[in-house]
Amino acid sequence: MTAGTVQVSPAWLRRREAADAAARAWELVDEVAVRLPSGGGAVIHDLGCGTGSMGRWLAPRLKGTQHWVLSDRDAALLSRAARSLPGDAADGAPVTLETHQRDVTRLERADLVGASLITASALLDVITADELARLVASCADAGCPTLLTLSVTGTVELTPSDPLDRHIADAFNAHQRRTTGGRRLLGPDAAGAAATAFTERGYDVLVRPSPWRLGPAQAPLTAEWLAGWVVAACQQRPELAVAATAYARRRLTEARAGRLGVTVHHHDLLATPR
Ligand SMILES: C[S@@+](CC[C@H](N)C(=O)[O-])C[C@H]1O[C@@H](n2cnc3c(N)ncnc32)[C@H](O)[C@@H]1O
Repeated sequence: MTAGTVQVSPAWLRRREAADAAARAWELVDEVAVRLPSGGGAVIHDLGCGTGSMGRWLAPRLKGTQHWVLSDRDAALLSRAARSLPGDAADGAPVTLETHQRDVTRLERADLVGASLITASALLDVITADELARLVASCADAGCPTLLTLSVTGTVELTPSDPLDRHIADAFNAHQRRTTGGRRLLGPDAAGAAATAFTERGYDVLVRPSPWRLGPAQAPLTAEWLAGWVVAACQQRPELAVAATAYARRRLTEARAGRLGVTVHHHDLLATPR
């Protein structure tokens, strides 16, 4: 595994899947659908697939036969993905899949030959600028639409607000942009960097908001997100620890009681060849 890579637990991916599904920008799916082969036979690559959340969401929303090629460097997540993609498209056509354990920032030209669509979800913020440049180059070489969803923007809103929110958010964003194992992560700069890179390669780029809107029904996810948000902020700025401990206790009580509303802003991006 590459030094400084961020490992993701299946439990966290399961916890966030419904919020991700509710957040995704629907109108980009319509744009994707009209660009897929009209007679079916779409080959869809999901990069950094995790347990396959994107396929579970997107495959049943597209018509026609689909073959999904799922890639992730984490074998355990891949094996879960292989077991859990839906078998049917929107019109009942079959959905098949294959999996590849590999680094999606080091794809060879042959890896994406014949792709009809490339997707990735919640991937860009954990890679570096060089890795993003290689990823965009691979997608552009493939010459098909690329849908990159749920990239954090760095903006969160908490209701009711608290004077410490802004300080925790700033420290968290700095943590997202940290250098780890010699790799400087893009964090909230990733979606903008991807848009620029695709535009420079002559692609049309659509960017749409895809915020998590977490209310009382999402209290367990809000609490888990909040705990991780504060821990990361304190790792980055240890001087926040004393104030943040009391803050976290207060906010977690509110979250668990369904009294804390959180909006975590993301962007979905669709790049299409002209
Ligand atoms: C936050 S998870 C998102 C997973 C999934 N796309 C989803 O939306 O649920 C990020 C995923 O990207 C994978 N990943 C990160 N960097 C990668 C790389 N360079 N090559 C392959 N997979 C990578 C991780 O193993 C993880 O499964």
